[in-house]
Amino acid sequence: MNWLGAVLAVCVLVSSAHCANSAIEWCYHEPGCNDTTWPTRVPQFCNGNRQSPINIVSASAQVDTNLTTFTMVNYDTYSLKTITHTGRTVKVSFNSGVSIRGGGLPGAYDGLQFHLHWGNGSSVPGSEHTVNGKRYPMELHIVHIKSIYGGNTTQAIADGTGLAAFGFLIEEMPGDNTGQPAAWNILSSYLSKIPNSDNSIAVTDNISLNDLIPGVNTAKYYRYLGSLTTPNCNEAVVWTVFKDTVKVSKDVIDKFSNVVYVTNSSSPLVVNNYRDLMPALSVTTSSTAKTCYSLGLMALTILLGRF
Ligand SMILES: *[C@@H]1O[C@H](CO)[C@@H](O)[C@H](O)[C@H]1NC(C)=O
Ligand SMILES: *[C@@H]1O[C@H](CO)[C@@H](O)[C@H](O)[C@H]1NC(C)=O
Ligand SMILES: *[C@@H]1O[C@H](CO)[C@@H](O)[C@H](O)[C@H]1NC(C)=O
Ligand SMILES: *[C@@H]1O[C@H](CO)[C@@H](O)[C@H](O)[C@H]1NC(C)=O
Ligand SMILES: *[C@@H]1O[C@H](CO)[C@@H](O)[C@H](O)[C@H]1NC(C)=O
Ligand SMILES: *[C@@H]1O[C@H](CO)[C@@H](O)[C@H](O)[C@H]1NC(C)=O
Ligand SMILES: [Zn+2]
Repeated sequence: MNWLGAVLAVCVLVSSAHCANSAIEWCYHEPGCNDTTWPTRVPQFCNGNRQSPINIVSASAQVDTNLTTFTMVNYDTYSLKTITHTGRTVKVSFNSGVSIRGGGLPGAYDGLQFHLHWGNGSSVPGSEHTVNGKRYPMELHIVHIKSIYGGNTTQAIADGTGLAAFGFLIEEMPGDNTGQPAAWNILSSYLSKIPNSDNSIAVTDNISLNDLIPGVNTAKYYRYLGSLTTPNCNEAVVWTVFKDTVKVSKDVIDKFSNVVYVTNSSSPLVVNNYRDLMPALSVTTSSTAKTCYSLGLMALTILLGRF
């Protein structure tokens, strides 16, 4: 049985509810269902004109002073609830109470889940967004839904700003590190506990979202209006891609592409689970870093000019 057949069988036998979420079957690498076929399979969305992911060209990103800092509620509490192997990624749901506002978003959004995209080990990068043409080893997506929809994703995907997604680019931690950061190491230890597609397990360790993004200044980010990066590709996402990367040690990055199988250990490993780049879109950027720098430079220029 091929990959698609296997996925279809699992869908039919194991979890019709899970599969009912996606109107079509899709995949990353098999003929007939890979991302080159999505625009014809879901023409109303995947063939649209604000599709994600994109390459972000930093020099073309206009500064928007409306892109203020975020208020991130319960990013500092142990909010991870359940980790699920979806057959295409692993995703983690949250206890209620995670939310974000500010950051130029039109209102408040509640945390729904996070999931990951990866390549094939740290040397074959698999982030979805690229910055100035560079693809990173992995990308963490934290997905939030506009609070007014009370968790109803049907309503959210019908709104051009119904979802707010955070993209964090993962980079290999320099030096001779293993098992770092600790929260990532613990998270990756769950992968072997959900070996088969549709397996789920409660997250019993104390991990906060902030623990997963150490060292990231969340005031520095790119913003554009795009889409879901998987079918049905709904154009309902306010994207925030952070400029600072998350540094994760090589052994932890490698685990994702070495431990997660498409259906079970007799099927292929989940690797390169990212969508190809879509055409460029208008990107804006928060101004914090640039402003501080140019103000500092201005002060220096004045001082030098005076003395
Ligand atoms: C693994 O999945 C395949 C379908 O991909 C299935 O035919 C096989 O029975 C499964 N093996 C186990 C041990 O569950
Ligand atoms: C993707 O699907 C298309 C259309 O079926 C096929 O021509 C192409 O070979 C596939 N690519 C891969 C990598 O499977
Ligand atoms: C910033 O927000 C104001 C008020 O909502 C709006 O009028 C203005 O167009 C926004 N600026 C940009 C660059 O989007
Ligand atoms: C992923 O990397 C492993 C080890 O380098 C290699 O054996 C395998 O063929 C790669 N898989 C794909 C799909 O490229
Ligand atoms: C979500 O909203 C849709 C459209 O308004 C509605 O038909 C559906 O019943 C709602 N679902 C839930 C679970 O409330
Ligand atoms: C998690 O934190 C709680 C208190 O907040 C503590 O009682 C519990 O032992 C911790 N669990 C682990 C696995 O560290
Ligand atoms: Zn994603």
